[in-house]
Amino acid sequence: MDELIEKAARIILDSKLTIALTGAGISVESGIPDFRSKGGLWDRFDPEEYATIWAFREDPEKVWQMLKEMEETVDSARPNESHLGLGELERMGLLKSVITQNVDNLHQEGGSRDVIEYHGNSRSLVCLQCGKRYDYQEKKGEYPPRCVCTKILKPNVVFFGEGIPVEAMTRSSQLASTCQALLIVGTSAVVSPFNILPRQAKQAGSKIIEINLERTVLTDHITDIFLQGKASEKVSQVVSAVKQLREA
Ligand code: APR
Repeated sequence: MDELIEKAARIILDSKLTIALTGAGISVESGIPDFRSKGGLWDRFDPEEYATIWAFREDPEKVWQMLKEMEETVDSARPNESHLGLGELERMGLLKSVITQNVDNLHQEGGSRDVIEYHGNSRSLVCLQCGKRYDYQEKKGEYPPRCVCTKILKPNVVFFGEGIPVEAMTRSSQLASTCQALLIVGTSAVVSPFNILPRQAKQAGSKIIEINLERTVLTDHITDIFLQGKASEKVSQVVSAVKQLREA
């Protein structure tokens, strides 16, 4: 067994409270491009023009050009081994919650039940004019989707310039400051306030395991165990190591 994988597995087995923090990198192997890698979403759509709440209010039809592409990609995406692995750790009682920046619903489809959606979820839509909410299925294939009051609907995701849902923010902060082990998968950790959570966990004495294709701003200062590679491979290796050590 790889030494780093074994160390990570032992941290998880010894921890009384473990949580996972995930970003777009965990869904790349499900066919959903991330944002900041080469060829990522922000290479094709300037976030200033497409991903701020001001851009949406200014020209919702333009923003829906990006959202439509995202939605069609998410619709055909299925959970990969890393989503399934985190779901398995939760079922084994070794992972309390997943706090995700992703809005693709793949953690839930991958078997995780305690998922905190820090940036909302693209499965529902809201009208900024009258407040009416819709399930995305009700408006499937309608671009841009419109409310009965005729206004263009906004997906229930957090745009730059919007606040994090209060319940998600509060619960995430509480978990980060009390966890004993933190598994960070597939995030560049450049967006706040999400990127405060790893620092909060570190300050609380948590052991930090990071899985990423490349080193990030966390790797040299916050991370204890850096597992470099694809999320599906590394998560699967950690889960099988946990099972092996638990039976030993
Ligand atoms: N396995 C592991 N890591 C991967 C993989 C993979 N297969 N593919 C990409 N990564 C890593 C990249 O190296 C990068 O560090 O995942 C990270 C993705 O970083 P970003 O594209 O910045 O995505 P994320 O961190 O989730 O962005 C945070 O920014 O634009 C906003 O709201 C958006 O929620 C998003 C937030």
